Amino acid sequence: MTTTVPRPNSVRSPLGSLRDRALRLAEMVTTPLLPVDYLDLFDPLRSGAALRGRIEAVLPETRDAASIVIRPGKDWLPHRPGQYVRIGIDIDGVRQWRAYSITSVLDRADGCFTVTVKAIPDGKVSNHLVHRAKPGTIIQLDQATGDFCLPEETPEKALFVTAGSGITPVMGILRNSAEQLTDTVLVHSAPTADDVVFGPELRQMAAEGRIRLIEQHTDSAGMLDARSIAELVPDLHERATWACGPVGMLEALEEQWASAGIADRLYTERFRPRILVTGEGGTVTFTKNGTTVEADGATPILDAAEDAGVLMPSGCRMGICYGCVLPLREGVVRDLRNGETTIAAPGDGVLIQTCISAAAGACDIDH
Ligand SMILES: Cc1cc2nc3c(=O)[nH]c(=O)nc-3n(C[C@H](O)[C@H](O)[C@H](O)COP(=O)(O)OP(=O)(O)OC[C@H]3O[C@@H](n4cnc5c(N)ncnc54)[C@H](O)[C@@H]3O)c2cc1C
Ligand code: FES
Repeated sequence: MTTTVPRPNSVRSPLGSLRDRALRLAEMVTTPLLPVDYLDLFDPLRSGAALRGRIEAVLPETRDAASIVIRPGKDWLPHRPGQYVRIGIDIDGVRQWRAYSITSVLDRADGCFTVTVKAIPDGKVSNHLVHRAKPGTIIQLDQATGDFCLPEETPEKALFVTAGSGITPVMGILRNSAEQLTDTVLVHSAPTADDVVFGPELRQMAAEGRIRLIEQHTDSAGMLDARSIAELVPDLHERATWACGPVGMLEALEEQWASAGIADRLYTERFRPRILVTGEGGTVTFTKNGTTVEADGATPILDAAEDAGVLMPSGCRMGICYGCVLPLREGVVRDLRNGETTIAAPGDGVLIQTCISAAAGACDIDH
């Protein structure tokens, strides 16, 4: 005998059908907007809505960095210290997505979290957040992600090597791990003492004996190389190391740690992709948008498109979040990280990450 079990959503309670009718009526009244659009207007952070946040405050940290206090929507999940969040913000009518490490303590009494942003020259989002963003602004959020975090079993000895805004994920870790981290060295570079983001708090941690802090002020003392770090931290081989900063610094550390046979003790976080391979480039057509751009073989398709005014989906802009994926209908692209090419025959619709793919000939992107 076969029994047909009604699907849960096909069972209608009198209350449910009454609610559906009320909703349909509301839709008729509020057309062309939907009732949820009005809900979003009055309660954008409500549970069940797209995940958003509200900027509550912008707190200057240095002349070009600020911590942004964000009240997340009700569906926000707790993060792990060291993780980052993708933020979407409307600037001049265009929604821009960028990734920022979470710097606050977990479970803040006010329910907010912070990201700390350093404005870079010509940077669209970083300058907007540091210098122009106003409390009350609603932003889009994704749940926090990333694995630049302490392991379950905290190492006895830890070393953090950071430069500039690279301090942010490490500050997220330091602020939340006072008890777990008992022997910690932080080597941090910035142009001057005043440019050290969280400078006063880090110096306070050092004064309290929580960390050993080595500051390198590069305007007066020059850049710190991997060899000098080894001299400054003689027991470096015994330490698990987390590093975040410019690509050049991270590459030098990776080389040094690999040649010392301790590559597995180094964890790095990159804010920008490592571009290794470039090629010829080509003509890229965005089929739905109708725009065609000439892109060189070193420029990610995402950047080439945005420079031409095409509104593109994006996120971390370095190949980790898949927020920029679009179908390549036809053509060839090259992965800028390893030179691998992806070829799409007409109509294939192969998905590519536009932030780390450059044209390697003529391409049609379904966008
Ligand atoms: C996982 C992750 C975590 C991050 N966490 C933080 C953080 O906590 N704090 C923070 O300030 N930033 C962080 N970033 C970097 C951030 O996402 C943006 O890349 C940065 O703010 C620049 O964006 P923009 O719109 O201002 O610059 P854009 O307008 O995108 O770029 C302007 C110019 O600057 C160059 N550029 C882009 N990014 C950088 C960069 N990081 N350094 C130097 N030049 C750059 C571009 O090539 C371009 O020429 C993180 C990035 C990732 C991937
Ligand atoms: S924007 Fe994150 S993978 Fe491309």
